[in-house]
Amino acid sequence: MGISNCNNFSDFRALAKKKLPSPVFHYIDGAADDEITYQRNTSAFNDVDLIPNVLAGVEQLDMSVSVMGQKLSMPVYCAPTALQRLFHHEGERAVGKAASKFNTMFGVSSLSTVSVEEIENIVSGPKMFQFYFHKDRGLNDALIQRAKAAKFNVMALTVDTITGGNRERDLRTGFTSPPKLNLISLLSFVSHPMWTWNFFTKEKFDMPHLSDHVAQGTNLSISVGEYFSTMLDQSMNWKDAEKLCKQWDGQFALKGIMSVEDAKRAVDIGCTGIMVSNHGGRQLDGSRAPFDQLARICDAVGDKLDVICEGGIQRGTHILKALSMGAKCCSIGRYYLFALAAAGQVGVERALNQIKTEIERDMKLMGIKNVKELDRNNIIQRT
Ligand code: LAC
Repeated sequence: MGISNCNNFSDFRALAKKKLPSPVFHYIDGAADDEITYQRNTSAFNDVDLIPNVLAGVEQLDMSVSVMGQKLSMPVYCAPTALQRLFHHEGERAVGKAASKFNTMFGVSSLSTVSVEEIENIVSGPKMFQFYFHKDRGLNDALIQRAKAAKFNVMALTVDTITGGNRERDLRTGFTSPPKLNLISLLSFVSHPMWTWNFFTKEKFDMPHLSDHVAQGTNLSISVGEYFSTMLDQSMNWKDAEKLCKQWDGQFALKGIMSVEDAKRAVDIGCTGIMVSNHGGRQLDGSRAPFDQLARICDAVGDKLDVICEGGIQRGTHILKALSMGAKCCSIGRYYLFALAAAGQVGVERALNQIKTEIERDMKLMGIKNVKELDRNNIIQRT
């Protein structure tokens, strides 16, 4: 199977699995503990049904949204994810260029493998920076300053990773950044010569936002879980979040909000958005799925800030359901990462095109001309 045969999430995932050494594939694909939350993030969408209206004259569609001050041509963007050059040598460059082509937002992680300065030069669309609150205050200040200087439009403070999730697949494979040689990884490198050739012969692996400040992750191999547990500041609290929001002085979101109470506090400290998210099920297994929690959160704060649904999205219909529930927009993570691993920028463009085509078709079948028309009348909870 090649990239031109990939027509859905599972196809991209299957091709990524073929292309990647197994520790790298399982790092993307895996989640915490028994991966119950990871599975629920997607299956939650099956408990709500869409109710179409017909004869609506749907030849002209508008699926554009305005989220956190950014105009996006579709109601979904590429969530920030770490370590992209490990998945394909084009890394964040490929995802950023593909997102720009589709006029949607591109999220860049503090743990990215391409710098915000380079992203500024190659990405024409809106850019979000995902901030991790480190113990090292000098590193925190540098992250904010660099993102600001590189004209990032949105800052997202990650609030669900103060300690590493129990990712047992990573424990089994020994996955670290940068990859360490052990028996499993050695065998999988040998059996994936193309990936291995690209990784070892193209530019040296780096995490340019961190490497001037800490050795871990670039010069010192470490698992992502251990990085979170040892480098991030577990004393982070609402005062810190408020201070960062003021320091950024622009569009500011908390990424990883799940309770109504926290959503209200995000409004109080001046946030303009929240990502209802459990970090793709990679942190607290057994926590609720974003889609299951969306109605309560949108009812409480949906008119005060932009609510973004993040986690488990694999279909255009998932996005229409989230918007009907009250979300302004959705984001995808693994979906475009598998496509990146499968075929670089071409793969990510195919994934974004796939999801856009699905939204278009689904809007027509729902009798919806503008995504702003979507509301609770379009869905019903299955009993
Ligand atoms: C992860 C981080 C890095 O979930 O976002 O692995």
